[in-house]
Amino acid sequence: MEQNIDFDKIDWALPPPEEEPERQYYFIGKCRRLVEEFEKKTGRAPTACIQTFGCQMNFRDSEKLSGILEQIGYQETDDERADFVLYNTCTVRENANKRVYGRLGYLNTLKKKNPDMIIALCGCMMQEKEVVERIKKSYRFVDIIFGTHNIFRLAELLCQRLEEKKMVVDVWEGTDRIVEELPVERKYPFKSGVNIMFGCNNFCSYCIVPYVRGRERSRRPEDILSEIRRLVADGVVEVMLLGQNVNSYGKNLENPITFAQLLSQVSQIDGLERIRFMTSHPKDLSDELIQAMARLSKVCHHLHLPVQSGSTRILKEMNRRYTKEQYLGLVEKIRKAIPDISLTTDIIVGFPGETEEDFLETMDIVEKVRYDSAFTFIYSKRTGTPAAQMADQVPEDVVKDRFDRLLKRIQEISAEVCGRDVHTVQKVLAEEPDDHLEGYLTGRMDNNTLVHFPGDVSLLGKIVDVYLEESKGFYYMGRMTASGS
Ligand code: 5AD
Ligand code: SF4
Repeated sequence: MEQNIDFDKIDWALPPPEEEPERQYYFIGKCRRLVEEFEKKTGRAPTACIQTFGCQMNFRDSEKLSGILEQIGYQETDDERADFVLYNTCTVRENANKRVYGRLGYLNTLKKKNPDMIIALCGCMMQEKEVVERIKKSYRFVDIIFGTHNIFRLAELLCQRLEEKKMVVDVWEGTDRIVEELPVERKYPFKSGVNIMFGCNNFCSYCIVPYVRGRERSRRPEDILSEIRRLVADGVVEVMLLGQNVNSYGKNLENPITFAQLLSQVSQIDGLERIRFMTSHPKDLSDELIQAMARLSKVCHHLHLPVQSGSTRILKEMNRRYTKEQYLGLVEKIRKAIPDISLTTDIIVGFPGETEEDFLETMDIVEKVRYDSAFTFIYSKRTGTPAAQMADQVPEDVVKDRFDRLLKRIQEISAEVCGRDVHTVQKVLAEEPDDHLEGYLTGRMDNNTLVHFPGDVSLLGKIVDVYLEESKGFYYMGRMTASGS
């Protein structure tokens, strides 16, 4: 998206504006002047590298961070030997944290070679007090720390760091504000994530997200619609509406609306071809939404519906607020209304107190639903969540054995299910040149399955008709048919 900011109009003699986003434009302008000085001194533009860990939300946040850095004048690179390195972190499982600490050691060696390098950390991990304390104590070379609620302040924090030359820490415990109209730099020109809400109120007992992302806040529908209209004008044909629990969208707005109503309004935007969304909580998935998905032709027939466990007893301990039977009933209702729906899920293995019988209930639900694919996770103890206090943490070897059994069965089923459209013609959005095959493109069907087919890069971003010649389990090999548009 191209923002037209007139930096010449900013009066530097005045203090920064109080209002957002004007305040941030002021600081972007100020940083630009510092970047110009850098360019004069070195004869090149400074480089910036953003590394993103975690979920779609973080990837979208990184596009916003990238937009700000681009406006400041940084040249983006994948190489961590950059002048500015930013890690947008995840803390949903402990492994993600460990990776960040590991990589920080490497960044320290880079900084020794380039002492002017700036290292910044943001995202979910930074919302944890112990993490910030540890970094302040043992990773003094980090320059800027901020959290999930104030990413829009990047330019201001960078300015502060450049002027004061000491570590800047700005982490907010929570917020009720949503700052609109900041620059964004998209990874793909033709598809984009769009935040519709932030935070989560569900407090599943294992999950740290409600603590680090704060309470549920919905964006106003008019702001969402105008963002999507701008995206479409800029070449976007597919949007992914993002929220931790999109099914409870709009409940707390001044003029409440439902997620199904929002979908219907988004559908009316001319030029937009596909609408996806993520993530749905089974307890809030309404009949109205199922009907809307069946009725609205732009809404893709893919539903990510995290089950987490097949055992009603464990689901209760997880505070998921549905039973195995209710989940299966929901799946039946969805399949009846939308027979070609592709269902995917998240499953946690080894939740405290999970017995072999509980685990077999999970195997059973996988058998009954027959997911297109499933993300499986080993339970990870997160400090501060109720599950971390529970007795009977399951021994590692037992969890590993269950995890392997589950994964094997999921992959077998997935290979059977995903092949069901072979020898049909499907609409495919051409997304990338194929990594492995010269002259081929990789695209996605409406139901999110990948297809590889011969094609020219000029087709990227277009929806074309592809005949699916062969199923390879998780993807198809195909060829375009004459009616490709
Ligand atoms: N341990 C393992 N997996 C977890 N998830 C969330 N918290 C944990 C945890 N503590 C998984 C859930 C969720 C997905 C995004 O991450 O399955 O749906
Ligand atoms: Fe975590 Fe549950 Fe909220 Fe999902 S719905 S983010 S699993 S608390």
